[in-house]
Amino acid sequence: MRRTLIAANWKMNHTVAETNVFFGNFTVSLHTDIELLFCVPFTDLYQTKHILKDTGIKWGAQNVFPAPKGAYTGEISPYMLKEAGCTYVICGHSERRQILKESDEFVAKKVKAVYDNGMIPILCVGETEAERNAGKTKERLQEEIQAIFLQFEEPPMKEIVIAYEPIWAIGTGEASSPEKAEEVALYIRELISTEWGKETSQKIRILYGGSIQSNNISSFITQKNIDGCLIGGAGLKPNELHKIYQKASIKEEE
Ligand code: PGA
Repeated sequence: MRRTLIAANWKMNHTVAETNVFFGNFTVSLHTDIELLFCVPFTDLYQTKHILKDTGIKWGAQNVFPAPKGAYTGEISPYMLKEAGCTYVICGHSERRQILKESDEFVAKKVKAVYDNGMIPILCVGETEAERNAGKTKERLQEEIQAIFLQFEEPPMKEIVIAYEPIWAIGTGEASSPEKAEEVALYIRELISTEWGKETSQKIRILYGGSIQSNNISSFITQKNIDGCLIGGAGLKPNELHKIYQKASIKEEE
């Protein structure tokens, strides 16, 4: 069975002082089959590590540069993230693809670099509103995922997570319908099955992201092919995230 993953992406929010306040107000009773993850700004990583190290809650980064070291001013290497205790690294969030013009190939190199350094990449994929309206959702996802296939000579033996985040649903309050997200998640699994085989496709966890809150999470994670959620805005509110995690736990107990 695939473990559920509830991942908060803090984006460019929370100073170290604010991180301390957040965790001072956040309580959770961890469920063994449901992972909880915080992807925090680079500057918060060591403080987050300090706070979470013995709790079972995981922490990770929101980006990485796909090279071991060298003349890449302003960038952070996979090994630096590993040293900071990151378990997961988000790769190719749509904000980076759109604002910083990251290409599918560059994102795919990040996924491979994270994987090769013993961490779990969370590859973000998703269509724009215009692509959705033009009926090009599957085409766009295929391009993004195909770029990953080109980086791997063999099917990955270790974990990779894929987050389906329709760009029009991010931060808008307008989530996808759970049925549509499930249809897309199934399509992603089929693409993986064709390239890497059924066994690998059944192991890969697929998340949904885009306007998830405590009042809609249940309808997403009860879908067969959705293994958790990537959460932006709601993950900055301790009480709301607590409720989201609790609702995810109820699914497991049913
Ligand atoms: P949101 O963001 O939950 O605020 O819509 C999701 C994301 O960007 O990962």
